[in-house]
Amino acid sequence: MKAVCFAEPGEASVLHTETIAVPQPGRGEVLVRVMAAGVNRPDIMQRKGLYPPPPGACPRLGLEIAGEVVACGLPQEGTPMPAIGTRVCALANGGGYAEYCLVPAGQCLPWPKGFDALQAAALPETYFTVWSNLFMPAIPPAGTRVLIHGGTSGIGTTAIQLVRAFGGQAFTTAGSAEKCALCETLGATAINYREEDFQARITELTKGEGVNVILDMIGGAYFNRNLKSLSMDGRLVIIALQGGAKAEQADLVRIMTRRLVVTGSNLRPRDSGSKARIARDLHTHVWPLLEAGTVKPLVHAVFKLDDAAAAHKCMEDGGHSGKIMLDVAG
Ligand SMILES: NC(=O)c1ccc[n+]([C@@H]2O[C@H](COP(=O)([O-])OP(=O)(O)OC[C@H]3O[C@@H](n4cnc5c(N)ncnc54)[C@H](OP(=O)(O)O)[C@@H]3O)[C@@H](O)[C@H]2O)c1
Repeated sequence: MKAVCFAEPGEASVLHTETIAVPQPGRGEVLVRVMAAGVNRPDIMQRKGLYPPPPGACPRLGLEIAGEVVACGLPQEGTPMPAIGTRVCALANGGGYAEYCLVPAGQCLPWPKGFDALQAAALPETYFTVWSNLFMPAIPPAGTRVLIHGGTSGIGTTAIQLVRAFGGQAFTTAGSAEKCALCETLGATAINYREEDFQARITELTKGEGVNVILDMIGGAYFNRNLKSLSMDGRLVIIALQGGAKAEQADLVRIMTRRLVVTGSNLRPRDSGSKARIARDLHTHVWPLLEAGTVKPLVHAVFKLDDAAAAHKCMEDGGHSGKIMLDVAG
């Protein structure tokens, strides 16, 4: 099969396609003939050598796919295996930039009705991430105020729509007037972080109350301003560290006196059982919304598998809004 590989970490130009053996499914795994795959920021970090795959994971790139099940390994107790021929989208443990990919059966979900391969492949990484961080273990009550940094990212466009669909109020940051306008059409109140101090604006917009939850992908550079943007009993959820992994002069008084919770997670190292629980929750609560058109993936650009380097460059240039995809079957 054809697969995107790289020998050494580096710029996007290290990516190239090679012909390698089709992998064979082990217990509890299915082999999917990939039709489309999503490009995600964690792939860029892995390519640069900054986000090594967890032990046991496929070392090649690609965390989400859509395609057809063509082979199944021996069944694993408690996990139903999709039938051969079923069209699935799946959260992959790596290896999605290829014509075939192995995935644990519990990480597969059906294509929502009416979706094509590109739309289905655009779902897993952002929906698993947003759902597990904002909606598990419990769906927040209607009216919850949520600040989502990076509103036009794959993660941001998903988070805004889900927060709105579950009756929350969405606030977001984005880096241009055009990107802010897109966030507003998705239902968020947008703040241009290059022109305004988001913390001052959140304080103003919430009449001093602050937001209840923040989904943060910036980390250190925003840490204290995030704390100051939270309401009493507010929760800061850190999912990436684009602005640094250290919080200088962290405002611990604020955490104590406002009873704040500071937490975070990353999806890839979670075990298959945990990913399967998220998949089941998504199927129950979110798949009906996708099929009704209440929430939908935004696809910004599509590249061929041979052009994975161009897809990475497109993401690194930062002009995109929504998802960048690889059309593997086309
Ligand atoms: N923890 C996890 O499990 C997990 C899983 C998937 C992704 N992630 C992380 O989530 C983030 C989004 O991923 P993605 O694949 O959707 O990537 P993406 O589309 O490339 O998005 C990156 C986003 O970061 C925003 N950004 C950069 N600097 C900012 C700043 N100072 N203030 C506000 N926003 C800023 C950009 O906004 P502008 O374009 O408007 O500047 C852009 O929207 C990445 O950092 C990724 O590593 C984490």
